[in-house]
Amino acid sequence: MIKRKQIGPVTQFLMGRVIDGSLIRAMACYYVDGLLIDSGTVHVSCELADAFSALPIHTLVNTHHHEDHIGNNSWFQKHCKLGPALAHPLAVPIIEKTSPLIQPLAEYRLRTWGDPPASSAQAIGQEIITENYRFKVLETPGHTPDHISLLESERGWLFAGDLYFGEKVIEIHRDEDPDLMLNSLMKLLRYDFEYLFCSSGKVLPGNARRAIVAKIAFWEEQRELVRYLYQQGLAAEEIRDRLYGPESSLYQKCEEELGKIHLVRAFLKGYTKDGQL
Ligand SMILES: [Fe+2]
Repeated sequence: MIKRKQIGPVTQFLMGRVIDGSLIRAMACYYVDGLLIDSGTVHVSCELADAFSALPIHTLVNTHHHEDHIGNNSWFQKHCKLGPALAHPLAVPIIEKTSPLIQPLAEYRLRTWGDPPASSAQAIGQEIITENYRFKVLETPGHTPDHISLLESERGWLFAGDLYFGEKVIEIHRDEDPDLMLNSLMKLLRYDFEYLFCSSGKVLPGNARRAIVAKIAFWEEQRELVRYLYQQGLAAEEIRDRLYGPESSLYQKCEEELGKIHLVRAFLKGYTKDGQL
């Protein structure tokens, strides 16, 4: 299913598979002024012609290499005659499937978002210029090492991919780095913006910086609590249970890739009981 929504000149395409009547684990691509930010999950490829036929797309950017962000690159390249997708240099060999480090996707990821076909990609520069807008490319690692965000300063738009997600996030992926995400969030605060466009479909209008400040404060507080309890002698699983309770059903459904324990372990990575990193 693809749902279209207009937010000023920006068009959001929320997409994903429908199971038992519900759109599951949807992601959002954004279109503005000839620029398409992410190409979505391959499971919706048969709906793309209808959804995008009226739009002149000139440039495709991938915020990072995850399968729900690059799944339709090759479709857009073929049907809209686009050149290589623009992405962080680390993402290029993954998008092109030439990296020897690519691991097979877990079963739940194949089921939810599908295996993206290889597509051509090239390293993005420092900015993207469309007919009416200028987007600054910001490196914002943490969700993945190759994550980027796009900032249109004049309009106050920030397209932040999967970096923000929500304020009180206590479940993260096994390979996410919350310390790096905190650095990236703090980096965003060096810039002026009002609107935050997230790949989760969330759009925060007006003073979106406040949401980012709140997320930073929440995670910094959690990091302190996790480390304090560790110094008191609790193991990672005990800290999780004390602060957040047991894992949700998502943990098993996601083959243990997404869980509370990963946030606790990440905050303890390299941290010793005497408080040294
Ligand atoms: Fe992602």
